Amino acid sequence: MRVRMQVFGALTAVLVGAGALVLAGDPTAAQGAPGQPRYTAGAPGAGDAYFPFAGNGGYDVDNYDLDITYTPPAPAPAPIVGQLTGVATIDLVATQDLDRFNLDLRGMDVQSVAVDGKPASEVSPPAHGAEVEGAAYWHVQDDAARVWELTIQPRPKIKKGQTAQVVVAYGGQTTRPEDIEGALYGWVTMRDGAMVVSEPEGSMTWYPVSDHQTDKATYSFEITVPEGKVAVANGLPTRDPVTEDGWTTWFWDAPDEQASYLTTASVGDYELRYSETDDGLPIVDAVDDALTPANAATTEASLGLQPDMIGFLEDTFVPYPFNSYGSIVDDDTVGYALETQTRPVYSRVARESTVAHELAHQWFGNAVSPQRWQDIWLNEGWASYAEWLWSEHSGGDSAQTIFEGVMDIPADDPFWDLAIADPGPLGLFHGAVYDRGAATLHALRLEVGDEAFFAAAREWLVRHDDSTGTTEDFEAVYEEVSGQDLGAFFDVWLRTPSKPITW
Ligand code: TRP
Ligand code: ZN
Repeated sequence: MRVRMQVFGALTAVLVGAGALVLAGDPTAAQGAPGQPRYTAGAPGAGDAYFPFAGNGGYDVDNYDLDITYTPPAPAPAPIVGQLTGVATIDLVATQDLDRFNLDLRGMDVQSVAVDGKPASEVSPPAHGAEVEGAAYWHVQDDAARVWELTIQPRPKIKKGQTAQVVVAYGGQTTRPEDIEGALYGWVTMRDGAMVVSEPEGSMTWYPVSDHQTDKATYSFEITVPEGKVAVANGLPTRDPVTEDGWTTWFWDAPDEQASYLTTASVGDYELRYSETDDGLPIVDAVDDALTPANAATTEASLGLQPDMIGFLEDTFVPYPFNSYGSIVDDDTVGYALETQTRPVYSRVARESTVAHELAHQWFGNAVSPQRWQDIWLNEGWASYAEWLWSEHSGGDSAQTIFEGVMDIPADDPFWDLAIADPGPLGLFHGAVYDRGAATLHALRLEVGDEAFFAAAREWLVRHDDSTGTTEDFEAVYEEVSGQDLGAFFDVWLRTPSKPITW
């Protein structure tokens, strides 16, 4: 219960702090006659209860083109602060008649904004409800309230269904941002580069973005770094790096629909290795040359298993969903791995079970993303369960044995106090989200039988591919495919803050 209390406290603070900001709907917007456009402000959030200001309303992004130049910190004892300048070209389509709309951008300064080639002028944030003349933009950054909003007022206004191209030039010092619970995330500056891992809403620390998974988009990258450094992003390189005057530009293209939190552009002293699976899926691995010998050996062995793991998960579920795969293994101080799309990032070492976990996320979390952050167990439960399946497949403990290990946790252990279908913003990465999540899936498998269990998993992946789904959507698929009423099962496993005994 303690977790819950903290959660509500934090969320209240966020909402109260944001009270002064303009929320959805601009009362001063022009009132059109019936049938005429009615221009209003896009919402400053995607409607996620855990992160009310993550993402934005009023448009859908099609593509982000990110042109970034990054200078890592100077050698010690200089502070661990980098320098980033960027030009983000964002192609979007309006989903309402837009008078204004927001992007999320944290800790960076905006130099210029243009919409469809027409420059906007920087103004100070207007009072609530006040009109602003002409094409304009303003940037509100409130670290205490965790509100970071760049508002753009385009002129002419954008009609629903129209596309627009937004170009934002920005830059600033890069630091070591923290998520709501204090873990490093976003553009995490390292002495030798940067480890870029942005779950749940840290992409806004390095580019202007609608930072919520309900607005997936494609990406392309041009990342310029000092000669000798390697920049690795999602997808595949489109051409060889170009070096000029001591700077090297790396080109990457990620043509699959991608949630913003899964974007990376990590920079370091990596050795790049290109290979492919027997089926011809390109694999690009980037391994830091500063790993300890023991970590390097563990990493080599684990990365060597990637093709087998892809084959195993394809046989178990559906074909691998993206154009490429591979791993970034960074010598860093972040302390956790992230399933960045097509190219997970590992902190210091890639262990076999973690590689299975991050790979499984490509299906569970990336191809099908949680519609709200409260649905995170759908990511972590499945990725953890895939570790169990891989263990059994590769001659280790069976899924049943690992399940029994979780069920050996005594009923009075606080592990069971979390209702994982709504863990709160401070409980996103609580151990129970992973282990109780995986146990829920194993218990579900025992409940509906192997055939329905795996058939429903495939149906889930097909139905919500390139999109998102909620816990309720997930339950519906399992009830449909199994023909069973699973209401009591899911209530006990997902919504009851105590150990499941009967269901
Ligand atoms: N989603 C990551 C994984 O399980 C973990 C993660 C992201 C995380 N942010 C975190 C873990 C913050 C601890 C703290 O692969
Ligand atoms: Zn995970």
